[in-house]
This record gives sequence, C-alpha cells and structure tokens, in this order.
Amino acid sequence: MNVYEAVRSRRSVRGFLARPVPAAVLTRVLSAALRAPSGGNLQPWRLYLLSGSRLENLKSRVRRRIAAGDSGDPLPVQPYPAGLPAVYAQRLADMGERRYGAVGIARGDKAGRARIRAGNWECFGAPAALFCYLGERMLPPQWMDAGIFLQSVMLLLRAEGLDSCPQIAWAEYHRTVAEVIKPPGGHVLACGMSIGYADPDEPQPLMPRAPLSEVVTFLDS
Ligand SMILES: Cc1cc2nc3c(=O)[nH]c(=O)nc-3n(C[C@H](O)[C@H](O)[C@H](O)COP(=O)(O)O)c2cc1C
Repeated sequence: MNVYEAVRSRRSVRGFLARPVPAAVLTRVLSAALRAPSGGNLQPWRLYLLSGSRLENLKSRVRRRIAAGDSGDPLPVQPYPAGLPAVYAQRLADMGERRYGAVGIARGDKAGRARIRAGNWECFGAPAALFCYLGERMLPPQWMDAGIFLQSVMLLLRAEGLDSCPQIAWAEYHRTVAEVIKPPGGHVLACGMSIGYADPDEPQPLMPRAPLSEVVTFLDS
C-alpha cells in the first residue's frame, strides 16, 4: 500500500471485529510511527497501548459509571472553542447527521445519539486501544506534534490491514483512564484511539471534505 492509498482508505471506523491484533504488529506500527516529526524533536507524547484484560477493566469501569448516570469528568481541554464560527458549526452538525443517520438514529433523538455515542467507551468493539498523554504544560505546538504522531499511527495501521478511530471522547472519563493506566503526574490525556479489524457489516459513512478551492490558496506572484 502506498501513502496515497493509506491516506485515502483511512476512515474513522466505529465497528470492529473481536479478532485480536497481534502484539508484533502493534509494536511494528508504533516503532515506525516514532519517526514522526516534532518541533525541536521533543517527542512530547507518552503512549499506552491497552488490550486484553487491562482494556476490559477500563471499559467495565466506564460502563459502570455510565450505568450510574455519571456524565463524566471535568474536561482538561474543551473539544471545540466557544462560539465556533458558522462554517465549522455547520460541518460539525453535518458530521453528526451522517454518523447517527447511518445507524438509523433520527435527527433530534438525543437518547439514541447518546446510546450510539456510548460505543466510544466500548472502543466500538475493538480489541486494542492507544492512549496519548502530554505533559500538562505543553502548548499548541506540542499538541500538533501529538496529532502528527497519531496520524502516522493511523496510516501505518492501514498498511497492516487495520483500522482505527481517534477518540477525544475518552477525555470525558479521563480520571478512570488514569486509574487504569497510572500515567506520570502532571500529564493530560490528549486522545484515545480504538484499533482493530473493521467489521465489514458495520455502516461506515464516508465523511465529505471541503473542496480544495475552499481551504487552499495557491499564491504564485
Ligand atoms: C482529535 C480527534 C478526535 C476525535 N474524537 C472522536 C471521538 O471521540 N469519537 C468518534 O467517534 N470520532 C472521533 N473522531 C473522528 C472524527 O469524527 C472524524 O475524523 C471526522 O468526522 C472525519 O471522518 P473520517 O475520520 O472518517 O474521515 C475524532 C477525530 C480526531 C482527529
């Protein structure tokens, strides 16, 4: 698979087979992803790969919290800025329509959306999950480094026939994630990521992109 194929075939997959991912494959992917660039070569990411009983433990703890009506921890970082400009708010709404529409949830069905969204904390059935932490003093450039690293992981996973879903949703239960992972003090959960073999029977809507002309300006004089 060449890089174009990896980029074009990557989607956020929200339905995985239970088939385990060999540890050697995950090690190969993460070893290669370590070549990702970072400002000043800080390599600010701290990664934890959970599978087996450790991941089950995490899922069951969060499941218990959700069943008890616990809506989550105070977020260390908001997922979107307040007053999101209309163009982005529109894309966000469109994404929700496509995502929930694909599984038959009607617009305005808040309980249905919450039920489907809770799949985040089951890793959508994936047998492995990656958690990326950053030092709490890290700044936007280091968060960008982490994003570059995570995209490298997602593309390398494609080369291995694997799929993924990056998940900021895990931050909503970051205290439980920390209980299970025990990251070093002063670290914040930047993102989780489910990893596994895509379930071919699960609807995976293709999310559109703004056209090149809307987001890229070529300047040549
Ligand atoms: C940093 C980041 C966090 C995300 N968090 C979630 C999440 O918590 N749950 C989820 O289902 N998708 C999540 N996504 C996936 C986005 O919804 C998805 O990338 C976007 O809709 C484009 O679709 P695609 O990835 O299939 O191309 C996240 C993506 C990124 C990059």
